[in-house]
Amino acid sequence: YRMVDLIQKKRDGNSLEKTEINWMIENYVNGTVPDYQMSAFAMATYFKGMTTEEVADLTMAMLDSGKQIDLSDIPGIKVDKHSTGGVGDKVSIILVPLVASFGIPVAKMSGRGLGHTGGTLDKLESIPGFKVEKTIDEFKKLVSGHGLAIIGQSDDLVKADKLLYALRDVTATVDQIPLIASSIMSKKIASGADAILLDVTVGSGAFMKNIDEARKLARVMVDLGNAVGRRTMAVITNMNQPLGYAIGNRNEIAEAVEVLKGGSTLAFRKYIAELAQMMLQLAGLDKSIDEIMANFSNGKAYGKLLELIEIQGGNPLNLTAPLNTKFQVDVIADNQGYIEEMGALDIGLVAMKLGAGRATKADSIDFEAGVNLHQKIGDLVKKGDAIATLYSNREISDDLISEFKSAIVIGKVKKDYKEILEVIK
Ligand code: URA
Repeated sequence: YRMVDLIQKKRDGNSLEKTEINWMIENYVNGTVPDYQMSAFAMATYFKGMTTEEVADLTMAMLDSGKQIDLSDIPGIKVDKHSTGGVGDKVSIILVPLVASFGIPVAKMSGRGLGHTGGTLDKLESIPGFKVEKTIDEFKKLVSGHGLAIIGQSDDLVKADKLLYALRDVTATVDQIPLIASSIMSKKIASGADAILLDVTVGSGAFMKNIDEARKLARVMVDLGNAVGRRTMAVITNMNQPLGYAIGNRNEIAEAVEVLKGGSTLAFRKYIAELAQMMLQLAGLDKSIDEIMANFSNGKAYGKLLELIEIQGGNPLNLTAPLNTKFQVDVIADNQGYIEEMGALDIGLVAMKLGAGRATKADSIDFEAGVNLHQKIGDLVKKGDAIATLYSNREISDDLISEFKSAIVIGKVKKDYKEILEVIK
């Protein structure tokens, strides 16, 4: 084949054969197909879509770009989870130790920041020394010896996703169902867990902007997982405002620690406990929300996070130290009222511009940069109250502050905000 013909075929709205998809991924991974042709193909796919069969073929081709981890010699049902991406989404960093604290092994492969969303791997790397690249043997040893591990894609594990993910991040080809489904499910199948919880986010800060699209993405992924014998379910969650109060990297670790120690808000702890309940159920363990929340207050879940940090080489000191940047600006409420909207997309973009995300593949992340919110939807603010603090090592322009402010609507209505919207099995 010639890559230019495959790009053209997709551009013209035709479906690719399995052999064509296999050829494309194989040659992209071995360096024969350059990034610019793969970008063009991703963009053609963005506009023309893929059939269910093409998505399955692409997922399997990406999976075959690396090895598949076999966890069958570790006893018990191993679980994994993955979010389709969000702003302030530190759920994995709380949920993985929480579920592991019930003795259920969690074997997770995560991703980096994508577009305006943050990535679990980047957040974990803000802990000095924390290593996300592990060999398959190392990963298996961590899961069997400690009951948890979080690693990234590598040249051994879904190399196609490692390359394509970084490319999509900077070519406006992230928010598309076939590309997301194949990216996530190739990682989930490769990492070897028996059961998978998919957190499909919907709303301004998610890649799926409406519930119908979210349902479609959830369906495609749940079917892909079940078709290869993995117990898979999805939960559709609200990403119209950032999750929790911290958006960035190190500040999100600090918030995760706070929740694991039984702090932050009851609503936030409950939300995480509900997700944990689903993961535990997938592993055949029925626990009430109260029983799950008890592992926040008794220190077991936090203990598991410290163990995770230690076994992956991180330094657990100063996890909750305040952000330390050259510039810090409070964003002040101009009038009194209830916060009615807190646009997650705009806030995610502001966090990125403060230094918490990447604009090109070669960019590095400033772990100290980010946003700390002081208010959320439904909160009452008075004129002059600080709604948020912005942290950056670059000068924070008035334009950026205005951009943040334009994401906030203050009005008369005290709005309810529900996190879990639907479960898809
Ligand atoms: N998370 C992933 O791992 N891949 C995507 O494409 C989107 C979110």
